[in-house]
Amino acid sequence: MNNAPIVEVEDLAASYDGTTYVLYGLSFVIRRNEVVYVLGPNGGGKSTLFKVLIGSLPPVRGTVRLFGKPLKTFKDWRRIGYLPQVVRESIPEIPASVGELLASSSSSASDLSPEEALELMGFDDVDGVMKRRLTDLSGGQLQRVMIGLALINKPELLLLDEPTVHMDTPGMMSLMDVMRRLSLEMDTTIMLATHEISVIPTSTTRVLCINRYHYYDGTIGELVNSETLCKIYGFHTKLIDHGHG
Ligand SMILES: Nc1ncnc2c1ncn2[C@@H]1O[C@H](COP(=O)(O)OP(=O)(O)O)[C@@H](O)[C@H]1O
Ligand SMILES: [Mg+2]
Repeated sequence: MNNAPIVEVEDLAASYDGTTYVLYGLSFVIRRNEVVYVLGPNGGGKSTLFKVLIGSLPPVRGTVRLFGKPLKTFKDWRRIGYLPQVVRESIPEIPASVGELLASSSSSASDLSPEEALELMGFDDVDGVMKRRLTDLSGGQLQRVMIGLALINKPELLLLDEPTVHMDTPGMMSLMDVMRRLSLEMDTTIMLATHEISVIPTSTTRVLCINRYHYYDGTIGELVNSETLCKIYGFHTKLIDHGHG
């Protein structure tokens, strides 16, 4: 079914200690092919939402369905690609080359090859990058490799948590283009969490804006023209229209 719901969340509440709610009363539906930006200030609950969606933090209330199946019985995790919010400092400890890291996840014939994943992520000198050690990459290069890793099994749902951290503006723009191509060409549904409102590509982009108990679900264009933004973000901010799309 083309327009099938991929992520359904109803009245979700999440908590780490069982007493303080980090998310409360959150509901939304994301359908196949959509690219939705999860926007909100630091501490607003974006990463927590992703932890719930990948099954690592059980909801304290509400229902979550993935590909139409209740989270509790969902087992098809290969259909989901996840980029955790990277703590840059923890990565250089992995003593491997880019090629070795990617090859370790490219396990079936239908997966992307390491070279294909790197090409998709905009690397020109793919053979050269394959041989580089992870420790030798810049923050932006490493981030693109990690996104390539999340993509390698051609996931139907891609969850990217702060993928633009460490990227310069051209890097961010090309990442947004890659996301749009993935949704169109590979039928990928994408949720991309960011605290930076300036990475939202066009004014018609759907944003799910979250700050604990305050939510907004609609286009970024409407959000910036509403009172809701101040309530959620706690400050006035201006949308930068990158003029593409
Ligand atoms: N492992 C954890 N244990 C307890 N509290 C946490 C944990 N992770 C996040 N929190 C708290 O949950 C809230 C939301 O955090 P998070 O989901 O990381 O927000 P965001 O990703 O939007 O910055 C914050 O108040 C944060 O301190
Ligand atoms: Mg986060």
